[in-house]
Amino acid sequence: MKSILLNIFNGRVVSPWWILLIDLGISANAFVLAFILRLNVQLTAYSVSDMLIGGTYVLTVYLVSFLLFGSYRGVIRHSNYNELKLLAVACFSAFVFLILSSSVFEWLQYGWFIVPRLVLIFHFLMTIVLSFTFRILVKETYSSLTKKNTSTNVFIYGAGDMGQITLEAIRSDKANQYNVVGIIDDNANMKNVVLHSVPVFSWEKALRVGEAKQIEVVILAINRITVKRKHDITNACLDKGWKLKVMPSVGNWVNGISNQNQIRDIRIEDILGREEIRLNQLQIMDGLDGKVIAVTGAAGSIGSEIVRQLLRFSVRKIVMVDMAESALYDLQQELLLSHTDAPFNVVLADITNAHRMQEVFDLYRPQIVFNAAAYKHVPLLEEFPYEAIRVNIGGVKVLADLAIKYQVEKFVMVSTDKAVNPTNVMGASKRICEIYIQALSQLKDVKTEFVTTRFGNVLGSNGSVVPLFKRQIERGGPITVTHKDITRYFMTIPEACQLVLEAGFMGRGGEIFVFDMGEPVKIVDLAKEMVRLSGLKLGEDIDITYTGLRPGEKLYEELLASKESTMPTHHEKIMIAKVRQYEYVIIKERIKELLLALKMENNEHLVSRMKELVPEYKSQNSQYSELDKQMIQ
Ligand SMILES: NC(=O)c1ccc[n+]([C@@H]2O[C@H](COP(=O)([O-])OP(=O)(O)OC[C@H]3O[C@@H](n4cnc5c(N)ncnc54)[C@H](O)[C@@H]3O)[C@@H](O)[C@H]2O)c1
Repeated sequence: MKSILLNIFNGRVVSPWWILLIDLGISANAFVLAFILRLNVQLTAYSVSDMLIGGTYVLTVYLVSFLLFGSYRGVIRHSNYNELKLLAVACFSAFVFLILSSSVFEWLQYGWFIVPRLVLIFHFLMTIVLSFTFRILVKETYSSLTKKNTSTNVFIYGAGDMGQITLEAIRSDKANQYNVVGIIDDNANMKNVVLHSVPVFSWEKALRVGEAKQIEVVILAINRITVKRKHDITNACLDKGWKLKVMPSVGNWVNGISNQNQIRDIRIEDILGREEIRLNQLQIMDGLDGKVIAVTGAAGSIGSEIVRQLLRFSVRKIVMVDMAESALYDLQQELLLSHTDAPFNVVLADITNAHRMQEVFDLYRPQIVFNAAAYKHVPLLEEFPYEAIRVNIGGVKVLADLAIKYQVEKFVMVSTDKAVNPTNVMGASKRICEIYIQALSQLKDVKTEFVTTRFGNVLGSNGSVVPLFKRQIERGGPITVTHKDITRYFMTIPEACQLVLEAGFMGRGGEIFVFDMGEPVKIVDLAKEMVRLSGLKLGEDIDITYTGLRPGEKLYEELLASKESTMPTHHEKIMIAKVRQYEYVIIKERIKELLLALKMENNEHLVSRMKELVPEYKSQNSQYSELDKQMIQ
């Protein structure tokens, strides 16, 4: 029997016209029943003809209403609340129309189409009840037929909207791998409540039930939750031996579709991020409204998140520039899937190519530019200073000069904490970019406002420790940490990009905004936390090894936002750096010489030039440390 039913269901979706026919059949039966009930089950030949004429009229009205509302178009075995609501609205509209039209026909004394009100009320209620029952029966039968015995027993954490969406997503998925045993909620009012046939438990009760039911996974499904609470729940679940997964909030769904594939493993970013940042939405909205915005390095970690955040505002167009073809293509596909109406263009181009960039500015005439295109890997750039100068400094120069030429209103450059008292080529190259940008903003008659934003590491960005540790954990280790005491400041990518937007519209031009990065995190602790989240045991399943500091690597990153080195702004997490200002005329010449030197000088000479430009640049753990000694002598 099961296999026959499964065969009926399998892969096939019944044509909507069949559903319409079934709904009409239900409605017809309901009418006969209502009519018979109204006459106390005493039908005469006269009343049968009344029933047929009235019934035809009623069914015609219901048919038109079903067609108008499209209540028959859903896939029955996946019926959800919205589809049931649509059906109810279609029936109710037909019912109201019939009540009104019956009154009119009564007044016109047009006997044929006068259907007694009681029959209409009975009929309406029975149609609703029967057609709902039909849908629920089909859905439940399908769900019990396709439910796998191998499914994992899970709790959902959160009985609010997200919890219910998660339950619905799990139940409606054909490849369902979860068996939801209960929903955990801390709200005392939810005690003993049953939600969509699933009991709601307090944490204490969940601990008892969880043991008996051999729970393996808890799915965290709460829309607004503090990072601390998330951390506490994670710890409590891991202590219990339950794996933690997360249902992301609706705005973060891949492809914007609700299904159980959205449920993902908890990530270190989820529990290391800080509390949500309150943005000055009005100021940002005002600044972005109707504007053409170019984002360079759009396919990178920071650039792509800036793009995602910009798409939430009513911008005219986003021009996404990057030279990494595959990454740019991936971003394009992602946006096509999730923001079908998004006003964006992708441009495959190298920002150091002045001719290409001029074409881009000429074609799109951006009013705002976010520059996140750069090379950023400290050890690599230590080996190839040529590229650091060519791409980071050369690229910024091309873009900033074009911004002035094309009267761009705002130019926001993404910099890094490594530019503060740099100890490596990468940091020094970014500091030179900052100097150039700041010098440009001193120019008179320049319409463009140049703003720099500086921040520390972002969690999970391309090539950062989080993806590296993740890969190492997947391979079974070891996890490589360069030094047991090394610390870094961390922010999540969305957090950093929100602050970039906020700072971008805070400045008047010429400022270097630095972000409050919170407390430094020991990298070895980060590694341990990631091991714990993966369910492995340190020392038993996986080890940590220390590999030694890499060239140019600092043990502790500079504190970006110290009181001495910054001034406050109206945003508690954004400060203005107090830095030495440079004369434009001098800086312009020095940078020109540096870029020209690329063609003829070796690495030592190039780095020496950088050190002359940035006197506080002192190489650490690097082949260029010698140059510092020579400069002192
Ligand atoms: N990732 C972090 O932790 C972090 C922290 C603070 C500041 N930043 C700064 O943010 C910027 C971006 O970092 P990210 O993490 O997004 O790096 P990323 O490598 O993920 O992205 C950089 C993007 O720029 C593109 N790009 C590089 N050179 C280009 C060129 N010549 N023309 C066009 N596109 C080019 C790359 O293809 C890449 O897509 C860097 O300046 C970095 O210093 C990063």
